[in-house]
Amino acid sequence: MTKSVSAVDLFCGAGGLTHGLRLEGVNVAVGIDLDPTCEYPFEHNNDSEFLCADVAELTGDSLRDYYPARAVKLLAGCAPCQPFSTYSQGHRNDADDRWTLLRHFARLIKELRPELVTMENVPKLRDHEVFTDFVQTLKDLAYHVTYQVVDCREYGIPQNRKRLVLLASQLGEIELQKPTHAKKDFVPVRQVIGRLEKLAAGSISKRDPLHRTSALREKNLERIRASKPGGTWRDWDKKLVADCHNQRSGKTYPSVYGRMSWDKPAPTITTQCYGFGNGRFGHPEQDRAISLREAALFQTFPPDYAFAEPDDPISFRKTGRLIGNAVPVKLARVIAQSILTHLKRVSL
Ligand SMILES: C[S@@+](CC[C@H](N)C(=O)[O-])C[C@H]1O[C@@H](n2cnc3c(N)ncnc32)[C@H](O)[C@@H]1O
Repeated sequence: MTKSVSAVDLFCGAGGLTHGLRLEGVNVAVGIDLDPTCEYPFEHNNDSEFLCADVAELTGDSLRDYYPARAVKLLAGCAPCQPFSTYSQGHRNDADDRWTLLRHFARLIKELRPELVTMENVPKLRDHEVFTDFVQTLKDLAYHVTYQVVDCREYGIPQNRKRLVLLASQLGEIELQKPTHAKKDFVPVRQVIGRLEKLAAGSISKRDPLHRTSALREKNLERIRASKPGGTWRDWDKKLVADCHNQRSGKTYPSVYGRMSWDKPAPTITTQCYGFGNGRFGHPEQDRAISLREAALFQTFPPDYAFAEPDDPISFRKTGRLIGNAVPVKLARVIAQSILTHLKRVSL
């Protein structure tokens, strides 16, 4: 009989990774994050405890207490990606102590020795010494390690998002499940948000407070009206083009102020995805940016996932951060399925 798996989710955020693990039957004993705004969504949507703490200050012994006796221990984590993200290039700050969080993850593995480890991050992390060191630590501790860059669209996630996924096991060879969707079957925007209530820029649905869109100034309203699905600001009349589109050492930025296409997956959902000027986040036909609910759906959160208490104000900035930072729930399910298949194979 396969033993049950129990996880500790480091850097748990609003619970994208935890939610997917739990949907596949992996118990998550605790989620840990420094940001207190994660507590409500993490606990409300997942029958799991939240600990507001700095991962750098945890010890392996303190984590051990969370695991039920005899469970197979999974240490899961998704260290903050900003220092590695292509979106923050040019703003890299080596002194930023978030760079060290992956080293703390490795330290906790050494101290705890969980049977299983999983880590998700941006693909660029592969190019950094901190990642090479992380993998080497696992190998030195006799873990079987596998990692790859995943195209989320190949797993039915309606979004052009690439992520580095690592799996490691002390119990034998482990591998990520094979992709489920060929290019012709990629899930398009229409399938995800095509039937949602129509909204004007700056308005909120009466039925779902998360279905809210940021307001647009007159100039940006003119710009979105002039935007074609899948097009760029280059389609606009010259008078609408902002100076910033063409400046900065002659570079151009075609991937801002775009509308999505109904028949293609969404672009990568970022922490800024609620702003029309922040990427290709325009709705395919309504004159507005996508709503926070639409962003959460592209991240494959269930349609009723709550990010704030019913009477609390919903901030675009805070909620955008929780949504854009999340591991897509569907990707987390693939990770969980891979782990459960592995455990069956090593017949624990
Ligand atoms: C990429 S997000 C994780 C997303 C999460 N795994 C999910 O699926 O929803 C990284 C998280 O790390 C948290 N964080 C940053 N520094 C931290 C620290 N020192 N200790 C604990 N959490 C930290 C951030 O608040 C953020 O929620």
